[in-house]
Amino acid sequence: MNYSDLQNFGFLKIDLPKDINLKDEINKLKKKKNAVILGHFYIDGELQDISDYIGDSLQLSQQASKTDADIIVFLGVHFMAETAKILSPNKKVIVPDLKAGCSLADSCPADKFAEFIKQYPGHTVISYVNTTAEIKALTDIVVTSSNAKQIVDSLPKDEKIIFGPDKNLGNYINSITGRNMVLWDGACHVHKGFDLEVILKLKEQNPDAKIIAHPECETPVLLVSEHVGSTSSLLKFTQTDSSNKFIVATESGILHQMKKASPNKIFIPAPALDSTCGCNNCNFMKLNTIEKLYNCLKYELPEVNVEESLRKKAEKSIIRMLEISSKLGL
Ligand code: 13P
Ligand code: SF4
Repeated sequence: MNYSDLQNFGFLKIDLPKDINLKDEINKLKKKKNAVILGHFYIDGELQDISDYIGDSLQLSQQASKTDADIIVFLGVHFMAETAKILSPNKKVIVPDLKAGCSLADSCPADKFAEFIKQYPGHTVISYVNTTAEIKALTDIVVTSSNAKQIVDSLPKDEKIIFGPDKNLGNYINSITGRNMVLWDGACHVHKGFDLEVILKLKEQNPDAKIIAHPECETPVLLVSEHVGSTSSLLKFTQTDSSNKFIVATESGILHQMKKASPNKIFIPAPALDSTCGCNNCNFMKLNTIEKLYNCLKYELPEVNVEESLRKKAEKSIIRMLEISSKLGL
């Protein structure tokens, strides 16, 4: 049975017994199958608490490369699970919902990116991890928001670089490294949805709050932010900074860990312009639910696979990132 058969049979809508304790059952299945659950900071708090490892894109790819589990259950989006499969081809990688994609990865089709690269001969290609395996196969070095600056800094000053697909992150890295990387014009619909006016109004109402933002946000938002960084960097900042109030411009899932780490501090999610929840959720991340996680572990489906010759090509650029990161102590 393939995934679409499962969907046709209503697999994802299987009625679970009313008195089932999903958390207990998930833990039992996990032990029995020697599975590890890797969760990104953007998934629901309930799922973050069930995960064996919770982290940002870099931390999760580091975990995926060294786990001794037989099964990796990835609670995040497709490119993250695909990266885990590329790094651990002999392990079974499963996800609760194959439809959990990424607008940023979608903003960079491989055929168009290959044409783009051709226009800039002699350039090193750096790609953000939020990409498909096909893009990684066209890439020299993968980066995440946690290590992009350091990896770019590690290259000779005169090295010509193409950076894709996130234009906002690329612009930000150009501004803090003094480079002039050629940028692909892609973006994440969640992070580009933040509005400067709305954020400034929040700041007016909360003058004691610090604005912190993910570098996938647009430049005007980054310019008014007192700290810019990856999800793990934002989390760390809220733990170590003396301020007691933060306006957080990234996907709202991260607030769960921020509140857990600093229960006495106040966290205000910056809302998207068209927000109905007063926050900004990634609809793809939120496709992960505890019911789907249970079914996924029970049936070991749906599985994420990468064709071997593509995997080998894509692996090189990810390994290069992991090697440089480890050399730099990241
Ligand atoms: P990091 O996990 O690197 O902070 O990136 C956030 C993100 O957009 C994941 O999709
Ligand atoms: Fe992709 Fe944006 Fe969602 Fe991250 S928040 S998974 S970049 S769509």
